[in-house]
Amino acid sequence: MRIVVSGAAGFIGSHLCDRLLADGHTVVALDNYLTGSLRNLAHLAGEPRFSSMEQDITRPVAIPGPLDSVVNLASPASPKDYLEHPIETLDVGSNGTRHMLELALEKGARFLLTSTSECYGDPAVHPQVETYWGNVNPVGPRSCYDESKRFAEALTMAYHRKHGLRTNIARIFNTYGPRMKLDDGRVVPAFLGSALRGEPITVFGDGSQTRSFCYVSDLVEGLCRLMLAEERYPVNLGNPCEMTILQFAEYIRRLTGSQSPIVFEPLPEDDPRQRRPDIAKAREVLGWEPRVSLEVGLSETVKYFRMKELPCPK
Ligand SMILES: NC(=O)c1ccc[n+]([C@@H]2O[C@H](COP(=O)([O-])OP(=O)(O)OC[C@H]3O[C@@H](n4cnc5c(N)ncnc54)[C@H](O)[C@@H]3O)[C@@H](O)[C@H]2O)c1
Repeated sequence: MRIVVSGAAGFIGSHLCDRLLADGHTVVALDNYLTGSLRNLAHLAGEPRFSSMEQDITRPVAIPGPLDSVVNLASPASPKDYLEHPIETLDVGSNGTRHMLELALEKGARFLLTSTSECYGDPAVHPQVETYWGNVNPVGPRSCYDESKRFAEALTMAYHRKHGLRTNIARIFNTYGPRMKLDDGRVVPAFLGSALRGEPITVFGDGSQTRSFCYVSDLVEGLCRLMLAEERYPVNLGNPCEMTILQFAEYIRRLTGSQSPIVFEPLPEDDPRQRRPDIAKAREVLGWEPRVSLEVGLSETVKYFRMKELPCPK
């Protein structure tokens, strides 16, 4: 297949490009490098089935030649990034998604949207199942991201209903792995960065809020399966293995052998209390579930940060 990936220079996008190329596909990568980096794609230079274009997808997108599939990952994704770029975030979820849907329509291609567990907001239903409509503050600081993705989902369903476009929607839960940025504010790089540098690990609130972490290769496998599925409604992709943030901080300390103290700061506004995907639908529709343990996934991530990101590895 010939596949367009938008947001390809980001953390997940770059891993998806690797996987699609390894499976024999041809990839056209689009990115405006707002939060991603060409460094994440540098190893693909010279690969004949890979090309990349600097493209802001909030502007009209023209790709010569036939296409079989469009995968839309473009969006700031970490709280630090979307709070710094709230307008760009709303714009890419709305106009950007529309341009990618139009591209798929023009080419008769399939379309996959990478949405988010943030659509559930601070959930009143636990674990989060796809039929739950969510509890999002539409005017809070995080709304630029949550509502952008909820709009993108609605737009995707509208293109499917109105034009018969073959669409899929992935609701991705916390995913981690190599090529995350150490300073992007997400909990895995934040804790690992602090632990590896021997600095205090900052836990927000009392640390009793929960998260579940999925390794990037598992997520990419789920996306590849979903891309070919006939399911039009959202499918959760994430790891249902849940732990409190405090347990996670202690786990990171043990794994890295760090002496970093754990310090506590006030919870940010609208921080979700609980996060765990119900993945029964992904199991049933895709035959998918995560396979990589937290220990193995985090060890790979630590190796990457020690090699690439930390100026003075311990
Ligand atoms: N990583 C996670 O845990 C997670 C969880 C839920 C959903 N997601 C979704 O998965 C996707 C990828 O996330 P990520 O973690 O790789 O984030 P990332 O920030 O590393 O990657 C996003 C990429 O999109 C690009 N981009 C942003 N605006 C753009 C625009 N207007 N035009 C073209 N490119 C643009 C950025 O430059 C970046 O390379 C996002 O849509 C995100 O919402 C990620």
